[in-house]
Amino acid sequence: MKIAVLKERAPGEHRVAATPETVKKFIALGADMAVESGAGAGASIPDDAYAEAGATVASQSEVVRDADIVFGVQAPDAALLAPAKKGAWLAAVLDPFRQRETVDAYAAAGIEALAMDFMPRITRAQSMDVLSSQSNLGGYKAVIASANAYGRAFPMMMTAAGTVQAARVFVMGVGVAGLQAIATAKRLGAQVSATDVRSATKEQIQSLGAKPVFVEEVEGIEGEGSGGYATEMSEEYRKAQAELVSSHIAKQDIVITTALIPGKPAPRLITDAQVASMKPGSVIFDLAIANGGNVEGAKADETVERHGVKIIGFSNTAGHLAADASALYARNLYNFLSAFWDKDAGRPVLDEEIGDAVRLTKDGQVVNERLAV
Ligand code: NAI
Repeated sequence: MKIAVLKERAPGEHRVAATPETVKKFIALGADMAVESGAGAGASIPDDAYAEAGATVASQSEVVRDADIVFGVQAPDAALLAPAKKGAWLAAVLDPFRQRETVDAYAAAGIEALAMDFMPRITRAQSMDVLSSQSNLGGYKAVIASANAYGRAFPMMMTAAGTVQAARVFVMGVGVAGLQAIATAKRLGAQVSATDVRSATKEQIQSLGAKPVFVEEVEGIEGEGSGGYATEMSEEYRKAQAELVSSHIAKQDIVITTALIPGKPAPRLITDAQVASMKPGSVIFDLAIANGGNVEGAKADETVERHGVKIIGFSNTAGHLAADASALYARNLYNFLSAFWDKDAGRPVLDEEIGDAVRLTKDGQVVNERLAV
């Protein structure tokens, strides 16, 4: 049973799919671990650390040769997997809706591709949930990057020279990233408010000591679709939300947007006119920029200045904390495969609920129902 760990090839991707800790744990299960030379460099893990943990460190083709499972962070080119065993598994964040051609290429190459980002949001899969582990770090980093770009302090400070006012931070979208953004901004001493379309988040916002800002008088605003995710909202709701947000946003110093709808482009939450209503020196961080963005004018990996307001967004926010993001992602992979490890078979054997959810391709076909046209 050979597991290969690839070095990431996407520009700006510093994460890695295994750490010395998870290498040791997989070896304890009976696997042979092979890590591509340089794979951990971006996450401050030298080749030697993998070798000390018991892995073979070698070139890409050497590492993938006869592998049973290949680990990646982002989707690798199907061609890189050619030396693997027939029917080998690939476990990575495959972004299947936007990378359909790559998924088709895996099918054609006979790879069994497992999308870690399709892990079901069920209690027993929480420790395997890469969207949560990475969004959590993303929410934290969004606040830190915003604080860094903001020309004022976050906490209220009473000094001999006068009082510094606390920053007002508004978080739009209170999923995993939004909750961490609220908690981080609170810890830094900001006055925090937050909104979401799912009314269930109101209590969560309050429990973190922040103020909920919600549309109250529109019918059918529960905003919750399947699996606890948001749905697209009615025209009436969107109008009411825009009015509410407009009056609130003008008083904010920092706005963090995190809103996503699975399988759809990110909803537009802030228009250019709303940006113009903010005070000069304010900062907006668009965490949804990789999915099209919540903020008009935002550009990935650039600081755009509009009406004196800085708009920031990273295409790979968790990747800016590569060491922690890799450690959590690597544990997600270990928690996933070890939960299904079959001692007799000497390899993981997936069950139906989780296996069918994450499996995209098998025996030359695209088999995932979320990808059925
Ligand atoms: P997400 O990343 O898909 O979206 C972020 C947030 O944006 C969500 O809270 C969503 O409701 C909100 N949003 C969407 N459209 C919006 C709009 N127009 N205006 C304002 N907000 C908008 O969400 P994430 O973080 O993936 O969480 C989704 C759900 O999954 C939540 O209910 C979360 O509690 C649940 N969850 C369950 C887990 C488990 O049981 N294993 C693990 C992680 C999350």
